[in-house]
Amino acid sequence: MKKITIAIDGFSSTGKSTLAKQLAKELEYVYVDTGAMYRAVAYFAMQHQFIGADFFDKKSLIEALPKIQLEFKFNADLGFAEMYLNGENVERPIRTIEVSSFVSKVAEVSEVRSKLVEQQQEMGTNKAIVMDGRDIGTVVFPNAELKIFMTASAETRAQRRFDELQQKGDNVSYEAVLKNVVERDYLDTHREDSPLVIAADAIEIDNSYLNKEEQFQAVLELVQDVVKTE
Ligand code: DC
Repeated sequence: MKKITIAIDGFSSTGKSTLAKQLAKELEYVYVDTGAMYRAVAYFAMQHQFIGADFFDKKSLIEALPKIQLEFKFNADLGFAEMYLNGENVERPIRTIEVSSFVSKVAEVSEVRSKLVEQQQEMGTNKAIVMDGRDIGTVVFPNAELKIFMTASAETRAQRRFDELQQKGDNVSYEAVLKNVVERDYLDTHREDSPLVIAADAIEIDNSYLNKEEQFQAVLELVQDVVKTE
């Protein structure tokens, strides 16, 4: 079967990664969570005190970029790759609400974006890849054979994220999560470099009322259609 590139973009907590992981498993493709890469850079910035609640030393972060080494390592027990920052597994710390509250600011920095986009494009040279993020169909792989854009209401997304954080034992209120979702939507869609926009040739899926299985089947059909016509 012909190998293709699948770009999945959309707002935060729309279930992009769940869908992308399922697709990658089914198709035996590589899955890349680009949000994890931006989160790892934000975590690095936080650790080095380049960013905090009321400050952001962009210049120092840009200078330190060559020292940031990002790598995905496949975890066979989990069935997907985990994010490593300079050799350390950072899957857990990059998912905290603290990192979530800084990541959009870090993702605004053009130097950060170009470093990560370059690495993402390298990962996709052999196709057979499912990549999720905000600019995959517009910037990273504008020629992807299949582009999906996922949306859901802010409340639905905040509830999902809240449930996830609760399961991990992160004691945060639903209101704080909703506030973070709304703020990130604003920053993601209003930044100058590669704002979150729907690519002209993307297929939009609003999953507020679709369950995971329905959504997966719908996208799988799209993949099959594309592969047939390629
Ligand atoms: O998908 P996520 O919520 O883990 O992404 C974290 C942040 O990273 C999100 O607020 C926007 C940014 N991001 C981006 O700017 N471009 C991408 N391709 C992926 C994520």
